[in-house]
Amino acid sequence: MEKPKKVTTYTLKQMKQAGIKIAMLTAYDYSTARILDEAGIDVILVGDSAANVMAGYETTLPITLDQMIYHAQSVVRAVKRAMVVVDLPFGTYQVNPEEAVRAAIRIMKESGAHAVKLEGGRQVAEAVKRIVDAGIPVMGHLGLTPQSIYQFGTYKVRAKEEEEARRLKEDALLLQDIGIFSLVLEKIPATLGKEVTEMLKIPTIGIGAGKWTDGQVLVIHDMLGITKEFNPRFLRRYANLYDEIFNAVQRYIKDVKDGDFPSDKEQY
Ligand code: KIV
Repeated sequence: MEKPKKVTTYTLKQMKQAGIKIAMLTAYDYSTARILDEAGIDVILVGDSAANVMAGYETTLPITLDQMIYHAQSVVRAVKRAMVVVDLPFGTYQVNPEEAVRAAIRIMKESGAHAVKLEGGRQVAEAVKRIVDAGIPVMGHLGLTPQSIYQFGTYKVRAKEEEEARRLKEDALLLQDIGIFSLVLEKIPATLGKEVTEMLKIPTIGIGAGKWTDGQVLVIHDMLGITKEFNPRFLRRYANLYDEIFNAVQRYIKDVKDGDFPSDKEQY
């Protein structure tokens, strides 16, 4: 069988130039990553949303670098074609650029992932520069940056006001100048997503940033309907796995209790 052509930073740049949309989803484990890769996803994000959907924390802040590396290792083992991007968790890049580059190097060396992602603009510029200078591809993340949720105090749409939109555009240009290869835009007005996308040479990936970004990303548990309570306007559910799994488990329980499982054919 022919080996699939791997998605790289170069591929993504070419996709933007050719107007081909980029499809990105999160994954945190081997089995899910394998399905996404074989289905043809372009980019897999080992997001720090693992803190929410895998570990049950309210925010993304508690997840550690070791835990992110564990998730990334599991995903990388499954992937043949997709590009694997790993979130730098909260606290690993805000203190100083040396710590940031050290954390990024650990992710790359210990997991075999292809790039890292971090949140913020001018305030993390030095950290981004050090990581890029080390030869590690960096994906930026502007707009609603969940690691700053306590500062925002709300998960509402960001950059609706002119001043915040202006700062976001300045940050996007600054990050591009430093050398990031792609930029996630989260929960901002669609028109701003369009403006930023047209302004940049690098591809933008939106989540709640409208239809004009170069690609889209969703959290896999949300798009598969495993999470039930999270229902933002930007989320399209492609399955209802919560109910599917719930019903399957209830049928299993019944079969066990009734002595119906295993049958004669299911035993040795
Ligand atoms: O952690 C994550 O899943 C993310 C996406 C929402 C972009 O950062």
